[in-house]
Amino acid sequence: MSSIVYLNGLYLPIEEAKISVLDRGFTFGDGVYEVIPVYHGHIFRLKEHIERLNNSLDEVYIDRPHDLAQWEEILRELVHQNPAEDHSLYIQVTRGISERDHAIEMATKQTVFAMSKPLLKTDRSAGISAIVEEDIRWKYCHIKAITLLPSVVLRHRARQTGATEALLVKDGYVTEGAASNIFIVKDGVVKTPPKDGGLLPGITRDLVVELLIKSGIPCEEVAITDKELKQADEIWITSSTWEIVPVVELDAEPVGTGRPGEVWQQASKIYQAFKTGMTNDD
Ligand code: PDD
Repeated sequence: MSSIVYLNGLYLPIEEAKISVLDRGFTFGDGVYEVIPVYHGHIFRLKEHIERLNNSLDEVYIDRPHDLAQWEEILRELVHQNPAEDHSLYIQVTRGISERDHAIEMATKQTVFAMSKPLLKTDRSAGISAIVEEDIRWKYCHIKAITLLPSVVLRHRARQTGATEALLVKDGYVTEGAASNIFIVKDGVVKTPPKDGGLLPGITRDLVVELLIKSGIPCEEVAITDKELKQADEIWITSSTWEIVPVVELDAEPVGTGRPGEVWQQASKIYQAFKTGMTNDD
């Protein structure tokens, strides 16, 4: 069945949704995006995702096309028109159409696109393998920009070695994964790099930090060196669609025991309990 997408005010079958080749998203990668999970009809952390979207838009001088209530209406309608148990929503806002010229005032109306696909339950609880790569991206990684070429290349390098994710290191410090945030555990203490321009402030990351602290599990937002990464007892990656995934092999060496760790098991249970509580709340 063809999915229904949202484009500039209209809900259309995906095959009928068309944009100009002069859209600056196409010619310059001039836009930002969000990915938001929906569990049993509940849009997960919508306010936080729209706040991050607004922040990304502000940082690149694109006017905000909608407020929170308008986004909610659009996304609810998309969920309604694309029946599935759980969804992964994708929002993309580009600067719009203009002659190919770097000057941003050439574009006068943003292109607003959103789509939904079923969020399939993939069991990654046995853990994944990862490689360490140099973080070759730009300095504004807190902006969720559609310009993702470095991440695509880095993820491909991981896949070429049979791994699932690339964990990135800049100047000796861990930043994040190609499309995820990173946590390590050492001697029972959970650590994740602090939020700065070097990484995306992940919605899952923030929630995991919040839930761990509430549960009394020691968790610190501190810089992590590549050496600490290699010597960690546990490594996890987080993202909206993958949630919390243990990394059991790094550069072909086992992480800790080589199996998902105890702290991950706890964190994962806490996260699932939070999700269940959220969907039972109405
Ligand atoms: N990516 N860091 C990067 C570079 C990411 O691309 C993502 C998510 C994250 C995790 O953020 P969050 O918990 O808010 O999903 C961190 C999405 C899923 C993507 O690009 O498809």
